[in-house]
Amino acid sequence: MSLMRSEDYLPRPAVIQKIIAENSQIKTFVLALADQQANQAFTYRPGQFMMVSLPHRGEAPISFSSTPTRPGTIELSVRRAGSLTAAMHALQAGDQVGLRGPYGRPFVMEDLQGRDLLVVAGGIGLAPLRSVINGCLDTPGHGKLTILYGSRVPSDIAFRGDIDIWQHHPAVTCHLTVDAPEPGWDGPVGLVTGLLGQVKVDPASSTALVCGPPVMIAAVLTALGKMGFADEEILTTMERHMKCGIGVCRHCHLDSKLVCVDGPVFSRAQLKKLQMDRL
Ligand SMILES: Cc1cc2nc3c(=O)[nH]c(=O)nc-3n(C[C@H](O)[C@H](O)[C@H](O)COP(=O)(O)OP(=O)(O)OC[C@H]3O[C@@H](n4cnc5c(N)ncnc54)[C@H](O)[C@@H]3O)c2cc1C
Ligand code: FES
Repeated sequence: MSLMRSEDYLPRPAVIQKIIAENSQIKTFVLALADQQANQAFTYRPGQFMMVSLPHRGEAPISFSSTPTRPGTIELSVRRAGSLTAAMHALQAGDQVGLRGPYGRPFVMEDLQGRDLLVVAGGIGLAPLRSVINGCLDTPGHGKLTILYGSRVPSDIAFRGDIDIWQHHPAVTCHLTVDAPEPGWDGPVGLVTGLLGQVKVDPASSTALVCGPPVMIAAVLTALGKMGFADEEILTTMERHMKCGIGVCRHCHLDSKLVCVDGPVFSRAQLKKLQMDRL
């Protein structure tokens, strides 16, 4: 277990540069550390998270939705869930939040280099995968990217600016689906697992990355196994309630692992060794 130092809990002030409303529930906060020198030096890896805080409102882990290949600011996409996130949604550009981190084990971009990627996301789960996708597209030598994204309804589809770019990118295939249609929607209706049968991917040369609600993750991991993906080549992120974010409080335990330091990124092979039979 890590030793606790009081400075580990000290949030650094960060200034909101811009707020992008992704849908009625999700806002992306474009942030820069108030200390310009620290902001210049700040770096992180896709899949990692920051502990974000507001005085008297609490603190919560939020994944990077931006990519370190575009330095200068960081982006955190926040779904309104409770006390802290509702308070964040009321903030304006120029306001400040507290940031600790970056924390957690990332997606190892070097391992993904040159492999084809199958990205399967549901809802806010696209946030950490957006970091991977845009990081890959910024890096020469990337493989093909196939993106499957499921939303509850068409008006819930987040990151529309990125999706538009991905749908026009020669190396990317991007399919969307919704649980329920709305007027004007002529795309697929149904679970994101339904799209898996329609894509052409070679499991031998591909890595799958999966983020979304736990029920979706379980169904997608099983389907990917049946498609022939090796357990080591199926990567996902786990969510648990967190307090410290640095391996001290044990709030985030997942069987014998701590999600904040052993995760949040795990392979299916790693999860199968834990008491998580359904995965
Ligand atoms: C590693 C990690 C990365 C995350 N990345 C993002 C992100 O990029 N964007 C985003 O919007 N959210 C993300 N989350 C979830 C986010 O941390 C929670 O929604 C947050 O705790 C909400 O804080 P709050 O004070 O607004 O809500 P609270 O008042 O704490 O809770 C609101 C509701 O959410 C439930 N809840 C809180 N935390 C969790 C959790 N970890 N798992 C399941 N249910 C929970 C509570 O039980 C309650 O029902 C992430 C969580 C983890 C562990
Ligand atoms: S949040 Fe404290 S040990 Fe993980």
